[in-house]
Amino acid sequence: MRTDTGHVFRLEDYRPSDYLIRETALSFDLEPENTIVEARLSIKRREGAEHSVPLILDGDELTLISLHINDVPATDYDVTPELLTIRSLPYNADFTLTIVTSINPTTNRQLMGLYRSSNIYTTQCEAEGFRRITYFLDRPDVLSIYTVRLEADKAAAPVLLSNGNLQQSGALDNSRHFAIWHDPHPKPSYLFALVAGSLGSISDIFTTGSGRVVALNIYVEHGNESRALYAMDALKRSMAWDEDVYGCVYDLDIFNIVAVSDFNMGAMENKGLNIFNDKYVLADPQTATDADYAGIEAVIAHEYFHNWTGNRITCRDWFQLCLKEGLTVYRDHEFSSDQRSRAVHRIDEVKLLKSQQFPEDGGPLAHPVRPKEYREINNFYTATVYEKGSELIRMLRTIVGDDVYYQALKLYFTRHDGQAVTIEDFIKSFEDVSGQSLARFALWYDQAGTPVVTARSQYDEQNRSLQIILEQKLAPTPGQSEKQPVHIPVQFGLIGADGKDIPITAHQGAGLQGDILHLQESTQSWTFFDINEKPVLSLLRGFSAPVHLEQQLSHEEQVFLARFDRDAFGRWQALNHLLTTEILKNVDELHQQKPVQFDPQLLQLLAETAQDETLDHAFRALCLSLPDEADIARVMGTNIDPDLIHQSRETLLAAIAQANAAGFTKIYEQLHDTAPFTPDAASAGKRALKAVLLNYLTIAENSPAQAYALYEQANNMTDRFAALTLLVHRFSGHPDTVKALAQFESDYQSIPLVMDKWFAVQARRPSEHALETVEALINHKLFSFDNPNRCRSLLGSFAAGNPTGFNRADGKAYVFFSTLILQIDRENPQLASRLLTSLRSWRTLEPVRRAHLQSALERIAASPNLSTDVRDISERMLA
Ligand code: TRP
Ligand code: ZN
Repeated sequence: MRTDTGHVFRLEDYRPSDYLIRETALSFDLEPENTIVEARLSIKRREGAEHSVPLILDGDELTLISLHINDVPATDYDVTPELLTIRSLPYNADFTLTIVTSINPTTNRQLMGLYRSSNIYTTQCEAEGFRRITYFLDRPDVLSIYTVRLEADKAAAPVLLSNGNLQQSGALDNSRHFAIWHDPHPKPSYLFALVAGSLGSISDIFTTGSGRVVALNIYVEHGNESRALYAMDALKRSMAWDEDVYGCVYDLDIFNIVAVSDFNMGAMENKGLNIFNDKYVLADPQTATDADYAGIEAVIAHEYFHNWTGNRITCRDWFQLCLKEGLTVYRDHEFSSDQRSRAVHRIDEVKLLKSQQFPEDGGPLAHPVRPKEYREINNFYTATVYEKGSELIRMLRTIVGDDVYYQALKLYFTRHDGQAVTIEDFIKSFEDVSGQSLARFALWYDQAGTPVVTARSQYDEQNRSLQIILEQKLAPTPGQSEKQPVHIPVQFGLIGADGKDIPITAHQGAGLQGDILHLQESTQSWTFFDINEKPVLSLLRGFSAPVHLEQQLSHEEQVFLARFDRDAFGRWQALNHLLTTEILKNVDELHQQKPVQFDPQLLQLLAETAQDETLDHAFRALCLSLPDEADIARVMGTNIDPDLIHQSRETLLAAIAQANAAGFTKIYEQLHDTAPFTPDAASAGKRALKAVLLNYLTIAENSPAQAYALYEQANNMTDRFAALTLLVHRFSGHPDTVKALAQFESDYQSIPLVMDKWFAVQARRPSEHALETVEALINHKLFSFDNPNRCRSLLGSFAAGNPTGFNRADGKAYVFFSTLILQIDRENPQLASRLLTSLRSWRTLEPVRRAHLQSALERIAASPNLSTDVRDISERMLA
């Protein structure tokens, strides 16, 4: 079934280019359907390269209009839309190449290169979009200084932006105008950007520690200016934080952000001109939920932090993508943890890692954090590169300690400023500062899969000693059968009967530092002395390494940890484990049609947690939320029947609801708040707890009344949408639900980001009839295949967020979905392949569903004219 699917790029084949591009002067004559681009490139042949070596430039769907070398028309060249090969180059190592191309921004629906959406010209060049603008050495190790001249109709495009600082602007004949931007920092082509159009904006300033006054602007669609204020606030906090914590100071006079509504990903860190999916810019209390606010804060910070980790120091090649992404995700996680509740944020990080990255690492799409080969780089902007990449930085910091961590980064910043580097260069800075070999740690970058750590312990009453034995194993992954042990830092504590940690005074066994066990071999053991009682072991505190931990804890010990672990993550993890076990046990019982029973101790524990005033609201909300159906499925691993999981989880929800109705009502009422909405973490935590409790109360009463009441009274989108979700998911078709859905639609029909929620909540309704709903919504006047956010909100939510509805046993939803993937692929391959990855765990389903899904995937793989993106994903999934 495997066919040759085109070129495979390999890390081992890397070699530097024969030519360098010192300076790049671009001139854009912007017209909706025929934009003319002139690129004047100052080329230098690399020392040692033969003068006869041809210059081979990348293109993608380009039309060449003219080509000059040192201002003389070139003759000896070959050109296709994908490649420009120039021979007979000047003997002199330095020369100028002038390339004129024409492109059509209007018909560009891939949203890569220069495209026009909602009458705005905008670009997306990472990873390989620049070659859709002009022929170029479109690779991240070719750094160039850019000067960009933009010219457009003044009425259609009053705003003309590019990277760096504005040098000149003015009016021209024929009601046109121009602007010239210059970016003094050498950069790879993927960081180039331009924006032109009619946009509203808000402005502010930030004064750096070095006294530079930076003009800050956020550009949005007219009328949305006030919805960008939170993003501006987040930007200023990010700039201050990066100076305080990392000593990273901004390096231009202007920092611009532009929000666009058609965007393939979250946002893009173009130098001095970040371009955002407007989902990560626009917010106000009436349209954004607490999760939206947190997302904006994180993505604004992420893109800003790239200025040092990505832009000043960039990647040598795309295999090194995690060099900028893993580090930058870690930095944005730290920023959010400092701005909010660190413990709660850590739990959310781990939930994301386990729900997105673990299935990737355990399935057919598994790849190392630094892949060794790819067919389509766009398919490697993954949870593994981003989230596991971030976990590796976090572990590195745990291993070397805070002081070495910050010193090593300082060395990395000074040593490699202005360079395109590798993971080896990065690690070398840490080795040089710490004087320690990090070879065992570095293996994490090259080995796919999630290690399994098995823990055993034995208490010796006579000798008052405790032995801990840790063992690590890593299963084979696609293309990698042999695995070596890696360096796993295991943070731990020994808890006494009083709930307090027992101090460690004497031990035997190598690799104990503070409260970290450094597991570096396949098996290691440690013995602790003067331990006067048998302690309860709290392992992997703070989730100190991205591993599966297998530990034989008794039920009593789990309950003990859930009550007493001083590590908040450990408490949540223990409780989560108990709940998961309970749901799994009932899946078995439902399967055998036996009556379901509940552990009274667990119900009691939840009641205590809900009432515990010493815990913050957000933490209580996390503890009271049952694991998602997808979480349960992941733990089950094989032979999954989503309907049984759903039933089992619902049964537990009902038992908790009934056992606690009175207590939960009391807390719910106390949380009622009439104060004006503020998006801070403390208020958000209250709303989160309120939503979890309302779910239980609605179940206990079996009535939509309270949810409908909240829907009507809500003074913010968080509460309103929580109420709507309960109505749609629990009381579909009830007059209250019909009324609320219609009201929501008429209130928000002109606000696309809110309508995305309206589509998503219906696509997620757990019901065997969800497919019919989704089919009807495809024909809704506001549904459009051209808008990625809308496609994700309807189709992504259905495939990735509706286990029972999407996996209906007759396989009809799979057929429906695969047809749409093929349709989207013709316009926007990146979007199609990303949506398709939500099926990556297909082999874990029970046989009937698995067979249906397999044929849907095979149908995709066998279709003619697939993009490389979808071809690569579908074939890897089936391999
Ligand atoms: N570098 C971007 C980020 O991490 C990711 C990104 C934005 C991207 N747009 C893209 C990656 C398009 C591939 C294609 O924030
Ligand atoms: Zn990034």
